[in-house]
Order: sequence, then structure tokens, then C-alpha cells
Amino acid sequence: MTKLWGSRFKGKTDSLADKFSFSIEYDYRLAKYDVIGSIAHAQMLGKCKIIRQTDAKKIVSGLKKLNSQIDKGTFKFDPKAEDIHTNIQSALKKLIGSAADKLHTARSRNDLIVLDMKLFCLVELILIVNGIAKLQKSILKFAEKNIDVIVPAYTHLQAAQVVLLAHHMLAYVEMLERDKGRLLDTFERTDTMPLGSCALSGTSLPTDRNYVARELGFVATTRNSIDSVSDRDFIVESLSNYAILGMHFSRMAEDFIVWATSEFNFIDIDWSLCTGSSIMPHKKNPDILELIRGETAGLYSNLNEMLVLLKGLPLTYNRDLQLDKPPLFQSVEKVKDMLELLEKLFASLKVKKDVLKKRIVDETLFSVDIMEYLIKKGVSYRKAHDAVGTMIRKCTDKGTKIADLTEEQLKSYCPLFKLDVKKLLNPQMSVKIKKSFGSTNPISVQKQINQWKKLLHA
Ligand code: ARG
Repeated sequence: MTKLWGSRFKGKTDSLADKFSFSIEYDYRLAKYDVIGSIAHAQMLGKCKIIRQTDAKKIVSGLKKLNSQIDKGTFKFDPKAEDIHTNIQSALKKLIGSAADKLHTARSRNDLIVLDMKLFCLVELILIVNGIAKLQKSILKFAEKNIDVIVPAYTHLQAAQVVLLAHHMLAYVEMLERDKGRLLDTFERTDTMPLGSCALSGTSLPTDRNYVARELGFVATTRNSIDSVSDRDFIVESLSNYAILGMHFSRMAEDFIVWATSEFNFIDIDWSLCTGSSIMPHKKNPDILELIRGETAGLYSNLNEMLVLLKGLPLTYNRDLQLDKPPLFQSVEKVKDMLELLEKLFASLKVKKDVLKKRIVDETLFSVDIMEYLIKKGVSYRKAHDAVGTMIRKCTDKGTKIADLTEEQLKSYCPLFKLDVKKLLNPQMSVKIKKSFGSTNPISVQKQINQWKKLLHA
């Protein structure tokens, strides 16, 4: 395959230099976008009389044929044609002959690659937003199925207080909602059409870039030709969003890995998402969750790679920019896999209600409730904290339970204690008495579930 720039060259390029510089091995993924962008461009060239309408029509119908080959998976990529643009250009020439030579008028690969990458990013951003919404729905379903389940919640990974399992799950839904917001923000900034900026300065030909933008569904046309071919912010932003999303996935994965240990034993992860051990026949390991946690490292390094790639680049196009593709493609692929796997996790996750029932009777989980009992009777926070702290210390040392203390013993810690404080030593009571906005109160948690369901099904 001849190169798009071959004629000026005195000698043949080195074969290793070719191998080192060709990108078709990964940018073949952009084929569809390259063709769609080219169709709009050719129509514009015809409309503006830069090329003959008959040639424009030939080009468009040829490109449409290539498009359907790409859809069917029958398009033959030529590994000897350096990139996707050269592949499409040469396939078109084979199909329609010399009219194909006019397609690359008033454009360059520098603006074309940005167009392809923006179209790719826009489509993937929306697919991933939809994937997140699907995951949120499956989390909600799981939360609602287990609406009566109470779990210990942790700070410092030390048991702290009890909450509804559903409340914990809604925390994930919140995180994911912010992720969607970030992706949609990035979508808006990505949604500008760069084609026609040409190499870097624009063109002396009478083009209509706004027409191309409209045909392709962009809301705007890029305003500065230099920025158009140099800008990769939209890739950095996408990768940054995927890194944050991965961080959320990883934290969820970690919660479930801990909960699935034999020490916690709160949940049962479905066999379909676990693996065994080649030596220890008893093992059921949460490998998929561990790999979600592990792959997040790659999402971070892809962002880092992109930032480092860009930091020293002078304006405008530099070939380094070709290397924006592998990290972006990889992050998109991993994030989509993770989304699907987490959805499967929630759909099949079992809660060990009996184990949890036994775990949440631990009296120390209600220490704040007891403290607030005293505060409601007018005791200062400090004195109430001291009284409950002393009571728990003594009970722990003696191996006695608060539930077994007499009224006299209770009053030795604070005269305002009465026997009725013991009704607080109950997990259902503990969640029920929470009143503040956003708390684990069952009525407000159910309300939030209903609100989320409405929002996500709208
Ligand atoms: N394969 C190149 C990339 O991905 C396309 C642009 C090439 N432009 C050039 N002047 N060599 O960035």
C-alpha cells in the first residue's frame, strides 16, 4: 500500500520504522467513525462546489458500502496501510476509482483523527452512562430485596454502628450518580466538531464546517484550528472519569471481599463470579472482585500515561498524539466489563441473614444511641460520652452486659439513666430512632429508594 505522503520521499522507509509507527493494529476500531465523518465531509465538498457533485455522490455511495462492510465485519483491514485513514482511503479507491482521490480535499489526518476520536469518545461516554444507570438499577433491586436487613457499619474497619443494608447500597448509587454527571459534563465539552481545521491553519478553499458539524450531530464547530488539532483534553477527561469510576468499583469490590471472608461471612458471592484453588480444595475465592480492584490500577495509569504524553508537547500536532489510543481503548473496554460484572454480582448476591442477626446484637454498636438518650435528658455531650464510655469499659472488663445491669448500677454511671434505656439495645430500634435527613431511618431509606427508582426509570 502506498503511503498518503509517499511522493515527496527520496527513499523507502525502514521496515522496523514502519512497524514502530503504524497504528492500524489498534486504530481499526475507529473505522466506522472515519467513514461517517468522511461521508459528511464529501457531501460538504460537493455542496460547496469544491469538488463536482457527481464525484461527491460517488464518494458517498462508496463510503456507504464500506460502512456496511464494517457493520457486517467483512471489511478487510490492510496491515500494510499505516492507519485507519489510509485503510479507508485505499479501500475507497479500489471501490470507486479516481473520484476517491478528491475525498481528502480541505482536510488532513490531523483534524480527521480528532474527529474520529471525539466520535468514539461521545459514543462510549453515552454507552457507559447507560451502563452505570443499569448497574444502579440492579443495586436498587438488591437493596429493596433486602430492605429488612441490618448490618454493622465500620469506621477504621472497626464495627461502629448499625445501618440498613439498603442504606449502604444507596451510598453506591450516589457515587455512581456523580460519575454519570462527570461523564455527561465531559460529553458537553467533547461535543465540538474539529474537521476542516486541516493541518493546523485552516484552508483557502470555500468550505462549510458548520454544515459538517450539523450533519454529524455536533452542537458546535471548534473555533480555533490550532486548538482543534492539538486538543486532547476530552481524552484526559474521559480517562479521568473512568479512573474515578474505577475507584468506586474498587471500593465496592473491597466491601464485598471483606464481607465474604469466613471471618465476616455476611454474604455469599455466586459461584459464577468466583474461582477455586489448585491446591486447597476448600477455597472459593472472590477473584472477579479482586480483579476489578486490580484493574483499577490500569485505569489510573492510563490517565497518567495520557497526562505525561501531553505535558511537554508543543502546539500543534505531534506524532506522540497517536499514542492516545491504546490507553483510551483499554480503559473503555475494562470499564464496560466491570460494569457488566458488577451488575451480575448484585443480581446473584445472597445475604446471610442469620449470621448478620447474630452479629448485630453486640451492645457496643448502640453506644451513640445511649449517649444521645442522656443528651435528650439535658446532659452535655461530654458528660454523656464519659458516662457511656465508663459503662462500656467496666462491662467489657467484667464480662457483663449492659442489658443485665440493675437500675442502681445504671445510675452509678449517670443518675439520669432509667431501665428504659435498655430498649435502645436493639438494632431495629437503633435505625428507627435516626431522624436526621439522609440517615439510615427505614422510612427515609425506603423513600429514597422510591425516588431513585423514579429518577432511573424516567
Ligand atoms: N495515526 C495518526 C494519529 O493517530 C493520525 C494522524 C497522523 N498525522 C500525521 N501528520 N502523521 O495521530
